[in-house]
Parts: sequence; structure tokens; C-alpha cells
Amino acid sequence: MKNFKRYTVTSALPYANGPVHIGHLAGVYVPADIYCRYLRLKGEDVVFIGGSDEHGVPITLRARKEGVSPQDVVDRYHNLIKKSFEDFGISFDIYSRTSNKTHHETAQEFFLTLYNKGELIEKTEEQFYDEVENQFLADRYILGTCPKCGAEDAYGDQCEKCGSSLSPSELINPRSAISGSKPVLKETKHWYLPLDKYEQELRNWILEEHKEWKPNVYGQCKSWLDSGLMPRAVTRDLDWGVPVPLKEAQNKVLYVWFDAPIGYISATKKLTPHWEKYWKDPDTKLVHFIGKDNIVFHCIIFPSMLKHEGSYILPDNVPANEFLNLEGDKISTSRNWAVWLHEYLEEFPGKQDVLRYVLCANAPETKDNDFTWKDFQTRNNSELVAIYGNFVNRALVLTHKYFEGKVPEPKIITEYEYSLKEEVRRIKTAIENNIENYRFREALREAMNISRLGNKYLADTEPWKIFKTDPERVATILYYSIQLCAISTVLTEPFLPFTSKKLLNILNINNINWEETEKFDLIPINHTLNKPELLFEQIDDSTIEKQIEKLLKTKEINQKQVKNIAPQKETINYEDFAKLDLRIGTILEAEKVPKADKLLKLTIDTGLDKRIVVSGIAEFFTPQQIIGQKVCILINLASRKLRGIESQGMILMAKDTDGKLNFVTVNNTCDNGSEVS
Ligand code: 2FM
Ligand code: ZN
Repeated sequence: MKNFKRYTVTSALPYANGPVHIGHLAGVYVPADIYCRYLRLKGEDVVFIGGSDEHGVPITLRARKEGVSPQDVVDRYHNLIKKSFEDFGISFDIYSRTSNKTHHETAQEFFLTLYNKGELIEKTEEQFYDEVENQFLADRYILGTCPKCGAEDAYGDQCEKCGSSLSPSELINPRSAISGSKPVLKETKHWYLPLDKYEQELRNWILEEHKEWKPNVYGQCKSWLDSGLMPRAVTRDLDWGVPVPLKEAQNKVLYVWFDAPIGYISATKKLTPHWEKYWKDPDTKLVHFIGKDNIVFHCIIFPSMLKHEGSYILPDNVPANEFLNLEGDKISTSRNWAVWLHEYLEEFPGKQDVLRYVLCANAPETKDNDFTWKDFQTRNNSELVAIYGNFVNRALVLTHKYFEGKVPEPKIITEYEYSLKEEVRRIKTAIENNIENYRFREALREAMNISRLGNKYLADTEPWKIFKTDPERVATILYYSIQLCAISTVLTEPFLPFTSKKLLNILNINNINWEETEKFDLIPINHTLNKPELLFEQIDDSTIEKQIEKLLKTKEINQKQVKNIAPQKETINYEDFAKLDLRIGTILEAEKVPKADKLLKLTIDTGLDKRIVVSGIAEFFTPQQIIGQKVCILINLASRKLRGIESQGMILMAKDTDGKLNFVTVNNTCDNGSEVS
């Protein structure tokens, strides 16, 4: 295996359009942090890069919904996300953002290099356009039925239900995500990365040279490559993003997935003037930590950009994780189905390591996994408290009891002590192998083996039983136990940094380097230890029940929102019903009622007559959209004046799950005037 001089470790830049949750932490940031902390303990030269992805349609859609600017949205969430990561000890060397000047310049320069080298294809094509909002509908601005699974709310770039990657033209019944209107096609010019041309080199690079990549990553790449790559547009008709640096590209920005990964480079530029060696020297190992939904961008598109720009290195590995679910259900920001990091910290102050531990022990490394509050409690109580906390506490309490808190001198050393040393060396090597191969769950299990070993040692030798008769043996046992505690501060530090710090304080020692643990004898004889403190506390049933309660409430709210079912009204008899004269009609004309946002004045052919109905549907339909629409109309409702217009009847409408109104209607074979009964 190649020996690298330095490491550039990146972690996916989260969209700054919402807070971060346990899924983010488990999938990307905890493993990346473990990796970097480990490398630093080994004395390696490493930069750990993070930052917010501040462009893209999800951000502009959110800004629109809230009636604020996209900059307001990203400012708010960038700071919240940054703080959450700091609070959880994610040890970025820089947490940058893509709305800053350095980033815009870096992304534009990158685009221009590709452009000037003739790498990009220029194409004019018809794309969907919203005539109500006067804008092109890129990516998530367009919704429609998924051609693969039939889900009705698939986005123009992806169906969230079945995970298929889509292009807007594949959507069935496309509609604008902004106005709901049916889009038209309009010509527009864009620049494309010719991935089809790069297919063979990508096949060689991934499928031949990187067979060691995780099976989920390798498999996804293979399936993309096997189904054939197409040119990918790297520009968009939007007003939020990095402007395309070409005169002929007014009102166009770089595609968010073009600029976001360049965010890793621009962040490194902000971090150090020596940034180039972290991106251009082949002796640097570049590793991208991401979630599985980002694989194509980091394994196919970004490497193609890097390679064809010409001066950059390619990633050595892309250890993508699968997804973490919560209590059996997919984590979802819109359904508030998540454990938010900032909320967790309010409810479990000081317990960052417990969450880090559980998320790593149960990380979705090879398949989707489930976070449950019960498992959280069990892992805390039966592993952190019962194994690690218990061992450290016993070793310290006994040393204080028998030797006044001073490390005793080992006199008689037996086979048992030699075997301890050997086992520590084995554990250390196992952790190294696992971390270097991105198997963090297994690495953590091994790290916990130090205190498992210590517990077994104390249980086997029972110093509390032999102190009176053999204090010298007890001195040896506690000397060895205290050394195991010191070793644990190092070997568990990548996983449990807050606990390591606490234990270092209790042991009254400074940080230890990774390799030093091989020496075993880390704390000198007679060294004074501080008073023991518990490393972890039990978490009781009521605390866990409170969390489960909270989730049940969320579920209830979601179910109500989805169904929005009103209770049944009081019973009426048939005569009451028969009094309603319901007919089929057709809207002949429609116009806005002046100074009334919600009202449309409709002229309806009822089969009996043509009459005016004023209807509160203007928020959902433009007049042009509904001309010719078949409707169901109550014609014998007493007429009434609305904004000075006599309304003679009422159109029947039904609300969908988004609160949008839909016509209650029939197929076209029913003539106007048909009775509904
Ligand atoms: O999926 C996401 O949340 C993206 N914002 C990740 C971007 S990673 C990188 F390219 F910046
Ligand atoms: Zn689908």
C-alpha cells in the first residue's frame, strides 16, 4: 500500500436549509471525525474540511416559503449547523461556506479552466418554463409523477420514494413546484460535462483500480457505469448560486452539484496558503466521507471535473455510508422525524459521547440501520457505564483506597501481566486496521476491549480480597489497571473525545500519542491521581420514555396532517340530502376579482343556463388554467353577493394533503346538466 505524506479528509457539505440530525452525524461526521482524530494522534499531517452547501433549489424553495431571502436562510442555518458540530466535537480544521467570495472565485475559475480547455459542451435545448412565475424550472422546481414507481411528488432531479435519479423530461404530468401550473417548453443554452466521453476512463479507474472501495460504493458506481453515462448540465437558469463567468450566460448560475464539491477546495484555500499541496500533490491521500445519496457526485462527477481540470489529485477512497432510520422510519426533515442535535444537547447536556458512541456502534456502514431510544439506553447502561465507566472507577477507587491515590510500584509480575501487554498490542493493531479500512463499528468494539480486559483482570485477580494478605500483588494489579486506563484515553479518543479528556484530567496526565501506548508503562510510579469521578451515568427508563413520547406526538401530528380527516357530521335524512341540486357544469370563463386575492369570477355552463359563480380558488389556479374544466356545482344554493358580484351557486372542491384545492369532477362523458345524486 502506498505511503502518503498527508491527508485531505472532506465531509459532505450539508445544505444550510435546516438543522442537522443524528442521521448526518452517524452517516458522515462521526466516522470522518474518528478518522481524522486517529490520524492526528498518529502525528499525521491532516486537514479535515467541512462547510455548508448554501446553494441549490431546496434553499430557494425554503426562502420562498418563509418569505425571506435565500441569504437569510443560509445565514441562520449555517450558524446553527456549525455550532452543533462544534458541540459534538467534530474537529474540523475549517467549517466554511459556499456563499463566500473565495468560494465563488474558486468555482468560477474551475469552470473557466474546463471551458477554456474545450472540455464542456454547449447545447441549446428546450426546458420546462413556468409562465406564471416567468422562470425556468430546474431540478426541484419541477414536480411530477415518477416514471419508475408512480410516486406523485417526484422532483425533476430525483424521486425520493424510490431513489431513482431523474431528469425533468422524464416526469409524467409535470407541474411547477412554485405556482402549481403546467409548464411549457422553452429554449435555453447550457454547458454540459461530457460524462459519456469519460466513461471508459472512469470504468478503469473505479472498477479496475479501486476494487477495495466499500461494496455499496463500488456497486453503485458499477451500476451507473453499466447503464451508460450521459452529458450532465453544469449550469442552471436560476438567480441563486455562483454566476456562470461568461458574458453570454446572464442570469445563469453553476449547478449546485458543480460548485458544492469545489467547496472542499475553497475551504482549504481559506484554511491555509499551502492549500495546493493538499489538493495537487500525489503524495496526498484524499478521502471523501459522504452518505449514499451522494455517491455518484463524489465517485463519478467530481472526479471527472478534477481529472479534466488537469491539476488535481483524485480521491483515494469514498467511504459512503448507508442511511440511519429512526425507530423504524426514514428520518425526514419535513415530517420532523429526527433527533435534532441541538435539541439532544438541551435534553442530554454533557452527553455528547453517549450519542457519538451509539451512532458509531450502530453505524449504517453496510446497510441501513435503525436508531432506537431503547438501544441508546442499553448501550449507555450496559456498555459505557458497565464496561468502560465501571473499570475506570474501580481502578481509581481502589488505588485511592489502598495507595492514597498514588500509582503503586509493581513488584511481582506474572504471566497475566505479560498477557495484558500483548493483548493491548493486539487491540491497538486491530483498531488501526479497522479505522484505516473505514470499519469504525469494529474499531470501536476493539477500543472498548481495553476496559473489557481491565474488568476481567480485576475480576480474575480480586485485589479487594487479597490486600490484607498480599499487598504487593495488589500494587502490581493496580499499577497495571491504571496503565490500562491511560491507554484507554488514547485508543478511545477518536470515538469518545470528551470522555478521554475527562479521564486524562482524573489521571492527572497530558495527552498521549498513539504509538506511545505500545510502551504500556505510561504513568510513572508514585504519580498522584485526582479524585475519581464517574465517566458515565445510568440513563433511566423515564428519560427514555419521554423521548419516545415526543416521537409518538410527532407521529400523531404527521398522521393528522397527512389524513386531515374531519370527524363525521351529524346524521341527516334522505330528504335533507335530496334537497341539494348538484349538477355537472363546465367553466366557460374565469377572471380575477379585483382587490380580492382569493376570489375568481367564473362563468359556468350548467346545462340549464350560463351563470356566474364567485369561488375562493384564486390561490390555487390561474384563470387560464381552468377554462374548460368540468366541475360539480350546487345550483340551488341561495345566491349571495361577494365583492359586489352576485354568486349563483357553489363549486365542489376537495383539499389534498398539501392543503391545495382540487376540483371534484367526473369524466368528460357526463354532459353539462347531468344530475349528481
Ligand atoms: O446532499 C447534500 O446534503 C449535499 N449538500 C451534499 C454536498 S457534498 C459536497 F459536494 F459539497
Ligand atoms: Zn420513484
